[in-house]
Amino acid sequence: MYLCLCKGLTETDVRAVAQAGLTSPEELIDALALDDEFCCGRCALEIDSFVAVAKEEWARVHPAPAS
Ligand code: FES
Repeated sequence: MYLCLCKGLTETDVRAVAQAGLTSPEELIDALALDDEFCCGRCALEIDSFVAVAKEEWARVHPAPAS
């Protein structure tokens, strides 16, 4: 599913960045270059959806230890 039409970024792209530990809004904007001159600004307004995907991926690859 596309999350950013301007750059053609999909959930897979966001998950790849998240696997490197980048899950905060600022980290995702920087890593995915969502603030350059080619961006329309929609993604910055909807960064919470990027963060949700990134945090889900981080939790998937780093599950909490069983107690
Ligand atoms: S849709 Fe992502 S910057 Fe425009």
